[in-house]
Amino acid sequence: MIASEAQPFSKTGGLADVAAALPKALARLGHDVTLVTPRYRGAPDGPVVGSVGLEVAGHWFQARLLEQPLGRGARALLLDCPELYDRDGIYYEAGIDYPDNPIRFAFLSAAAIDFAAQQATPFDVIHTHDWQGGLAPIYARALGAVPTVLTIHNLAYQGVFDKAWVPRLGLRWEDFTLGGFEFFDRLGFLKAGINFSAAITTVSPTYADEIQRPEYGQGLDGVIRSRGAHLTGILNGIDFDEWNPATDPHLPAPFDRERLGAKAASKRAMLERFGIAVTDQSLARPVVGMVSRMVDQKGLDLLAALAGAGAFAALDATFIVVGTGEPRYQDMWRFLSQRHPDRISVFVGFDESRAHLVEAGADMFLMPSRFEPCGLNQMYSLRYGTVPIVRAVGGLVDTVRPYNPKNGQGTGFLFSDYEPGALLRTLETALATFANKKIWNRLQKNGMRADYSWDRSAAEYVKIYTRLRPARTTRRTPASKGQRDS
Ligand code: ADP
Ligand code: GLC
Repeated sequence: MIASEAQPFSKTGGLADVAAALPKALARLGHDVTLVTPRYRGAPDGPVVGSVGLEVAGHWFQARLLEQPLGRGARALLLDCPELYDRDGIYYEAGIDYPDNPIRFAFLSAAAIDFAAQQATPFDVIHTHDWQGGLAPIYARALGAVPTVLTIHNLAYQGVFDKAWVPRLGLRWEDFTLGGFEFFDRLGFLKAGINFSAAITTVSPTYADEIQRPEYGQGLDGVIRSRGAHLTGILNGIDFDEWNPATDPHLPAPFDRERLGAKAASKRAMLERFGIAVTDQSLARPVVGMVSRMVDQKGLDLLAALAGAGAFAALDATFIVVGTGEPRYQDMWRFLSQRHPDRISVFVGFDESRAHLVEAGADMFLMPSRFEPCGLNQMYSLRYGTVPIVRAVGGLVDTVRPYNPKNGQGTGFLFSDYEPGALLRTLETALATFANKKIWNRLQKNGMRADYSWDRSAAEYVKIYTRLRPARTTRRTPASKGQRDS
């Protein structure tokens, strides 16, 4: 497995959660998984289990691979090359992408494949993620017949660079074609992955359909359609060890479906932590939480339109927001919280502990995404009895069922049109529903019953691996300690 970020070593978004949780889930099914991921600044050390030296773009890069366990049968190898990865940022600094990103991520794939080539027991499948891992299927040609799987987590990030990189990254001009990695006369890393891997997956069934259409295809819909027969949408799971209200160390008191009353302690702690006076009124008022990258993808422009119309001040709700992203959106939330300190609070930054507290303490969770390949927070919310309010798109459609007042079924609130009025009406409906405690309680419990575990999703991946390597993909007996054979 190759991924450019993985929990707990590095994280900017959901890819990190998946890159750690999927290997663990595959291991639980009896497979042995090695994840190669960069060792960025601050990541831990570990025993050296390998080393690679490669020329990229006229430079020689030497790296060690440091082992960190992920769980039984699954390990991470941190690719330690300080020249490339020991920096303040992961992908960029001060809003500007590192100019050597083509080298940094070509090296990630090339080094992982080189390590694989050194092993006495060959790997059966190479599974790579997003544009950063997009060149792996090309470098994997060196391994002979080992099939590659690419998972697309977000088609908006494609890794497109000047074509001068083609020879510098050891690529061949004969692959610089429409059916190869040429994207409007430039080099596309993700496009390489799409065209040269044996199977492609993306992170929800609905997104798999959407990206074959121009509205969501980001210019690659034609390419994806041409590879449609090899594309599968597999919903992400959530890591139940990390995101469990009954054991979450970030909460003041545990809760679950049977002890839902204890969720109130998290609401109180959250209000305190976010500087909102704890009064009978603030405890009773519904809290809408958000934990999100502050970018257009996540619907921040819709929220800005609502803010401009004074809608947040008019609603009888408290808004608690955690996120980083575009400066204009950070500034907007800061401005709103200064104007309405009793009802709006924002934490600008990346903070795991606050993210957990908001999932637990909020009554509702807002994700008005323009597009959403899968989305993890709505699944965390369901588990924490926090009712999601989402746009009906991508993985959000596949995980949140609309509340039906007639039969009391459903787990959240959805709207379709990407338009501030539609979002506002849905927020109002949710707030009105909140007023009826009996109905609300049912809605919460419906959501807490939903099961988005990794085990089911991992089994779907195994089906794909098995299809690609029918003779080779064997399992060790899950209960016993076996050899790496899958
Ligand atoms: P995306 O990967 O598009 O950002 P996901 O919903 O798949 O969206 O995953 C986002 C992950 O990142 C979640 O685990 C979420 O809790 C976390 N996250 C996002 N922003 C922050 C933040 N500012 N602080 C802490 N965690 C965050
Ligand atoms: C991407 C998507 C998000 C998805 C995550 C993990 O960052 O934006 O929807 O949940 O990857 O697959």
